[in-house]
Amino acid sequence: MSQKSSLRLPVAAFSILLLLLLGAFVLIQLLPIGKNQTNPPVIAEPNWDSPQTRQTFMQACGDCHSNETIWPWYSKIAPMSWLITRDVNEGRQKLNVSEWRVRKNEADDVVEVVQNGTMPPWFYLPLHPQANLNPSQKQAFLNGLAATFGSENEPNSQKIESGDDDND
Ligand code: HEC
Repeated sequence: MSQKSSLRLPVAAFSILLLLLLGAFVLIQLLPIGKNQTNPPVIAEPNWDSPQTRQTFMQACGDCHSNETIWPWYSKIAPMSWLITRDVNEGRQKLNVSEWRVRKNEADDVVEVVQNGTMPPWFYLPLHPQANLNPSQKQAFLNGLAATFGSENEPNSQKIESGDDDND
């Protein structure tokens, strides 16, 4: 008897906890965060050295660095929506191949971040296997990026000079 009632308390507490979590999950869907998942118009693109470079960029980088983001179903659900929307906004702010020349783009490090593997971010890869390039795809992509954006030694001729470098 006493054993039975001592079991009931944890079960009740667990149920309440689950209900609270469920309620919180429902409530956070209503917060006005991560709702701005738009794809603004494509204005101008870089002068890609080949269609292949563009295609690889779109498949490995375009979700966060273009206005042609594919927003998957889970990107609509908080709290993932908060993180994904933030990444896309920050990514587009740094480099957006759909708004080329109309604003500043930080393409100087593009070869470097692919070479050292910081881009695409590690957490993007499990759900986007097409962004995982094998060594020969990666080498071809690096060559294409260098030809399109210029490498560090070759100053990037496509960079726009819009006044002060630090105004972002
Ligand atoms: C999941 C979204 C996402 C993907 C996919 C992605 N990036 Fe990024 N990228 C970001 C974010 C966010 C930033 C800004 C914050 C930072 O630097 O980490 C960024 C920054 C950059 C920068 C600026 C680096 C700097 O100095 O800050 C470059 C260049 C870049 N990314 C290139 C790429 C390339 C090339 C790919 C594809 C191989 C790629 N990114 C894929 C989100 C992404």
